[in-house]
Amino acid sequence: MPVDAWPELLRWYDVHARDLPWRAKPGETPDPYRVWLSEVMLQQTTVAAVRSYFARFTERWPTVDALAEADEGEVMAAWAGLGYYARARNLVACARAVAEEHDGIFPDTEEGLRALPGIGAYTAAAIATIAFGRRAVVVDANVERVVTRLFAIETPLAAARPEIRARTDTITPDDRAGDFAQAMMDLGATICTPRNPACAICPLSDICTARRRGDPEAFPVKAPR
Ligand code: ADE
Repeated sequence: MPVDAWPELLRWYDVHARDLPWRAKPGETPDPYRVWLSEVMLQQTTVAAVRSYFARFTERWPTVDALAEADEGEVMAAWAGLGYYARARNLVACARAVAEEHDGIFPDTEEGLRALPGIGAYTAAAIATIAFGRRAVVVDANVERVVTRLFAIETPLAAARPEIRARTDTITPDDRAGDFAQAMMDLGATICTPRNPACAICPLSDICTARRRGDPEAFPVKAPR
């Protein structure tokens, strides 16, 4: 079992991390406001689509306190095009809760984050680890693909989710947990792609069961129809 996947992966991430505007540069401290805003925007929207919205939002409302004081109609207008408008309403509600109930400081635990409007289990885990370095199990569609391939999980995806979480937990390090989570996402987005994965340049190819079997595209397994 590749419980020691992370050193190779983190070395790869140090060189190949995607340059995304909400990420802290090496040596910088992540800004929880920017991490939260990006994670909410990314919930049902691609990285490519989010970039320009993220730039406009952070220019107009550079802090959670600024967003808390925003006119809701103006935020809704700025959100237009991103879809799933409940996210925008929750965005304002969450900013106001942080400003008014937490002195403008985001809670730094999954539990504290989950208590805020619009923050579910996935988003709480992502913010806790990316913004605060907490060890958390962060599984999005990219991570599902990477993990089902690493361990050649034969169970169809919907039923495999508990096992995927458990496996992700076993390979998540205590140190640099936030970088690990983002490295898994980047690996899934750029190398461990649904079709024609670039196994030849993958930092995890040596320990990948699907690669060894020669059928990475077979994972994740779809439910029989
Ligand atoms: N998708 C959701 N959150 C992300 C992140 N922090 N980096 C890259 N892709 C993501």
